[in-house]
Amino acid sequence: QRIHLADYRPPSHLVEDVHLTFQLDPKATRVTSRIRFKPNPDSEETGFRLHGEGLTLISAKIDGTRVDPEMVEDGLVVAAPNDAFTWEAVVEINPEDNKALEGLYLSNGMYCTQCEAQGFRRITYYPDRPDVMAPFTVRIESDLPVLLSNGNLKERGEGFTEWHDPWPKPAYLFALVAGELVDVHDTFITKSGREVQLAVWVRKGDEHKCGWALNSLKKSMKWDEDIYGREYDLDIFNIVAVDDFNMGAMENKGLNIFNASAVLCSPETSTDADFERIEAIVAHEYFHNWTGNRITCRDWFQLCLKEGLTVFRDQQFTADMRSAPVKRIEDAILLRARQFREDAGPLAHPVRPESFVEINNFYTVTVYEKGAELIGMLKRIVGDETYYKALDLYFERHDGDAATIEDWIKVFEDAADRDLSQFMLWYSQAGTPKITVTETFEEGTHTLVLEQSVPDTPGQADKKPMHIPLLFALFDPDTGQQFGEDVLLELTEPRIEIRTRGHDRKPVVSLNRDFSAPVIIDDTSRTDDRLFLLANETDSFNRWEAARSLTRDALTALATGGLGPGEEYLDALNGLLVDDSLDPAYRALILRQPSEEEIAQAIFDYGRHPEPLSVNRAADTLRARMAAHFEPDLPRLFRGMQVHGAYSPEAADAGRRAFANGLLTLLSRLDGGTAARAQFDQADNMTNRLAALGSLLQIDEGAEALARFESDWKHDRLVMNKWYAIQISLAPPEAAVGTARALTEREDFDWTNPNRFRAVMGGLVSNPAGFHDATGAGYEFLADWLIRLDEKNPQTAARTSTAFETWKRYDPKRQDLIKAQLDRILGTEGLSRDLTEMMTRIRGDD
Ligand code: ARG
Ligand code: ZN
Repeated sequence: QRIHLADYRPPSHLVEDVHLTFQLDPKATRVTSRIRFKPNPDSEETGFRLHGEGLTLISAKIDGTRVDPEMVEDGLVVAAPNDAFTWEAVVEINPEDNKALEGLYLSNGMYCTQCEAQGFRRITYYPDRPDVMAPFTVRIESDLPVLLSNGNLKERGEGFTEWHDPWPKPAYLFALVAGELVDVHDTFITKSGREVQLAVWVRKGDEHKCGWALNSLKKSMKWDEDIYGREYDLDIFNIVAVDDFNMGAMENKGLNIFNASAVLCSPETSTDADFERIEAIVAHEYFHNWTGNRITCRDWFQLCLKEGLTVFRDQQFTADMRSAPVKRIEDAILLRARQFREDAGPLAHPVRPESFVEINNFYTVTVYEKGAELIGMLKRIVGDETYYKALDLYFERHDGDAATIEDWIKVFEDAADRDLSQFMLWYSQAGTPKITVTETFEEGTHTLVLEQSVPDTPGQADKKPMHIPLLFALFDPDTGQQFGEDVLLELTEPRIEIRTRGHDRKPVVSLNRDFSAPVIIDDTSRTDDRLFLLANETDSFNRWEAARSLTRDALTALATGGLGPGEEYLDALNGLLVDDSLDPAYRALILRQPSEEEIAQAIFDYGRHPEPLSVNRAADTLRARMAAHFEPDLPRLFRGMQVHGAYSPEAADAGRRAFANGLLTLLSRLDGGTAARAQFDQADNMTNRLAALGSLLQIDEGAEALARFESDWKHDRLVMNKWYAIQISLAPPEAAVGTARALTEREDFDWTNPNRFRAVMGGLVSNPAGFHDATGAGYEFLADWLIRLDEKNPQTAARTSTAFETWKRYDPKRQDLIKAQLDRILGTEGLSRDLTEMMTRIRGDD
């Protein structure tokens, strides 16, 4: 059944308050609810229906009288009074058998919940929609030592706790946790002087891995006060780490639940990237307290209202904690690698989708990351000052609301006093806008012509021109200096011309500086312009971009039988690498190659089917050429970047390690792995250890290190996920599927654990030459596992299936092989709604 945004109707009833009692039992948990309903004056609907899924109804009463509801597909219907009434129900659920990890489930003996988007209906009967908000009182009865829910603790007694959350919230923010947990705690004093108890709850033995998350939480609380003026609003803030979790984390009011991989870290077990990711996720979930919880979404079509904004806020936070230029580049890499790809394929959808079958399939990079880019563009268009004015207005006007994108845009229109209706198209038109650039130069006059177009996407054709903010500058080719200030071009028409006069020579154009808009610039600029920008550009994003596009061109050329990188380019790159005035983290990004996936897409954009093996060989060749070309500087640079003293995950040291480890990959091709082996043996932190292992695997010298790594870490699930993934993703292409298959036969391959499942499947998919093995073995392997997992955990199966979204890029033979697997999956009896929707969309019509 397909749900449409246009069909939104207000709820028939509102909820005044909710009382829940849980009598926990692994196989038969009893949930008793007492809910005060009243008819919604804004609704014409009269019937009373509640959502429910997989519940055993024991008894139901209205105003104390037993009733006999009629069971319908997604819940129940029952006759109700015309005015306010009390609904009471007792249901039974089975947390132990719940492997979908939605609703209440058991993870390694720990009770936990995941209710977003529609998991609450698996806990009890309720109007499970975000525009129904209510205060919750929760009583948990169990012998387990730790019993947590949302809000403030009201009472704790022998075998029970009682919680009260005074802030009206939708059911998707409900949470419950119970188990043998220990906490690491601290306090935070808010700007108005209130003391908040902070705690990170984990299994015994993990206490030493909580400090970073706890500290990240404090930094986030302070940052949101300083930058957005937002203060925390309860006496307690709890974070819980669980082993089995479908996503990264969840912002339940006052009780955030995290995938263990998104909270636990230590220098020995976690990489710098893990530390940065954890800091960002903790911040993200905390920031949701205002952008998501205090102001929530009217319906699930508005998901980007909370997610796009909260991602934007966590990006700002990371930029402030670390390096803003580096963060901007990292975000652009992610967006291009994953969101542009989504936008270019069969799963393309607007940032605010117009219809869906299963909402869990729309927690996408488009909603999250492109959604965040829209906020960034708004900020750039109205300016920083007006942006924060608009945000103040948003919090003031909509606190306590379930709001819409229209509400959101309205605060900007009011704060900036301008019409943003064309900007609204960013929310409704899917596809990445493309900007074609043409330059002419005649008699001292430079003319730049920009033409925009938005490609057709499934279900959407003939799109309107968008409102695109492009930051722009011109450079003097003689002095290397920028002419004047940056200009913000606001494209609103299909075509514009920018003319400047009085030049002696053609100026050099720098467009979309700081990646001001998430668009594709059809870059016809000449190689020497890019080399010029590489040397002279003052915008750090576009300087990196110049290097990136030259590398991309070199790789696409190599992969399609053309010539490799030129000397001039390698010299220029070398010049940046040895430039000590540049941040090492930035130099690491300059050195990092575009993924094989990105090159495959670039080849396809030129109108050819990429051959994954050729792309893989091209990447290898380029690394070899770079190693040879940089050889005179490599050992010295590598030594100079070593970090001495105690490990710190902060940006400065992490940047040096990132650069050193990029260099190590090249060095390994020259020294046969000597330096990498030494680093692997001596490293006191996971970053350097894993990087050394990666370098060795890339030159096929990793067997011994892999075995050592396993014996050192076999007791640690999270570390072992790295071990699983790296040996598949860096396996020689012809060995990748075999390696993945062998790993799935291990005793410790617990495939119902999403992290472990992803380690293998994600590892394979990130080895494109292996996954796209010409025999189709990779496709068959993945399809087998998707079918198997779908029976237990449709959400993670559906998410993993996006690996097939690029299938139309490849040659007809591979397309046939993939299509056969898509059809096989679709033909599976009892396939979930989640995977059916994904397969149907990916497959498309014949
Ligand atoms: N709201 C969470 C976050 O981004 C994501 C949870 C989504 N869960 C799901 N089952 N779709 O912070
Ligand atoms: Zn979020």
